[in-house]
Amino acid sequence: MKFSTRLPANLGPNRLSASLATLRAAGRHVIDLTESNPTRAGFAYPPDLLAPMGDPRGLLYRPEPFGLPAARRAIASDFERRGHGVDPDRIAVTASTSEAYSLLFKVLCDPGDEVLVPRPSYPLFEHLTRLDAVTAVPYDLEYHGSWSIDVGTVAAALSERTRAILLVNPNNPTGNFVSRGEVEHLADLCGGRQVALIADEVFADYPLHDQPSRAGPLLTRTDVLGFTLGGLSKSIGLPQAKLGWIVVSGDHHQVQGALARLELACDTYLSVSTPVQIAAAGLLERGGVIREQIRERIVANCGWLISRMASTPAGSVLRSDAGWHAVLQLPSLTSEEDLVLRLLQEDEVLVHPGYFFDFPSESFLVVSLLAPPASFRDGISRILRHFDCSTARP
Ligand SMILES: Cc1ncc(COP(=O)(O)O)c(C=O)c1O
Repeated sequence: MKFSTRLPANLGPNRLSASLATLRAAGRHVIDLTESNPTRAGFAYPPDLLAPMGDPRGLLYRPEPFGLPAARRAIASDFERRGHGVDPDRIAVTASTSEAYSLLFKVLCDPGDEVLVPRPSYPLFEHLTRLDAVTAVPYDLEYHGSWSIDVGTVAAALSERTRAILLVNPNNPTGNFVSRGEVEHLADLCGGRQVALIADEVFADYPLHDQPSRAGPLLTRTDVLGFTLGGLSKSIGLPQAKLGWIVVSGDHHQVQGALARLELACDTYLSVSTPVQIAAAGLLERGGVIREQIRERIVANCGWLISRMASTPAGSVLRSDAGWHAVLQLPSLTSEEDLVLRLLQEDEVLVHPGYFFDFPSESFLVVSLLAPPASFRDGISRILRHFDCSTARP
């Protein structure tokens, strides 16, 4: 059978997942510093948190392409919590942020068109674009004590086929917010070219330091067609609720054009369940307790990591301002892949290699800050012990 090339030809497990499966089958306990599923990270979810989804109004099916008005108002209120006024009429409710990308690629792109994606960044962009027959063209982030966009690489990556520039704000896994200057520059690049800006703000609620948030920079702009994405999977740690959103911004005429097309795309699938839409306001309100637990955990783990790495000559932790990940830079004694495999097999700690996120050089390790503090500290200590031993070897 001939299958679509939108999916990779090789679907087998990579060396790391094969090795992990072998260890787990042998009953070995591995400290998982890649866990990014909040529902498995030991947070205290109130047992009745999902009660609003049992509302009997969910027994009536009333299809609405952009989502029920109450759900759109609830999402607009959540933006108010973060200090942004958003018109509910410019909100489309989606089943997830991943689905939001797919809808936007359908609305903005023809097969073979290009979208610019940050590098390093979220590994799923490769699949998300390919599944919609769109080509992801990277632009670079650079690190000089903090991360920023190398705007020269954005300009160089633009072509006649570019339809959108993706911003992850704050970026996963590097944790940098997009600066005001960067947004200005990108809006200038996009404005005259019929190129949209898409800002993925799923981690916007998770600053790691006391500093004003730089989320929402597209919401009030009229010089570029903008799409701001978010969802419950990160904002209240409920990926299984399957609720995300797109806020459309820009010049009135362009916004209306985008909304009309988005409406048809949403209407074709009608993928968001009625119970979660009815529950949206209740979930967003009740979910604050999970957000607070996650915030407390990531700030504590990040603070501990920074002080631990400060006394470690072998490596460093890169500056991050937000999000659920930390990036360690370590000596390149072997390839990143071998390093990660040895950490798994010899030290029983699982981490992501930097190449997974398309870091331009080696060796970087990406760890999740969601792990319970005792496991997190144990896992990081094992990594550092590994390097003590490695550097001590003749
Ligand atoms: C940057 C980024 N965007 C989107 C998603 C996916 O979000 P959702 O669960 O809403 O599809 C993730 C998940 O990790 C992510 O890291």
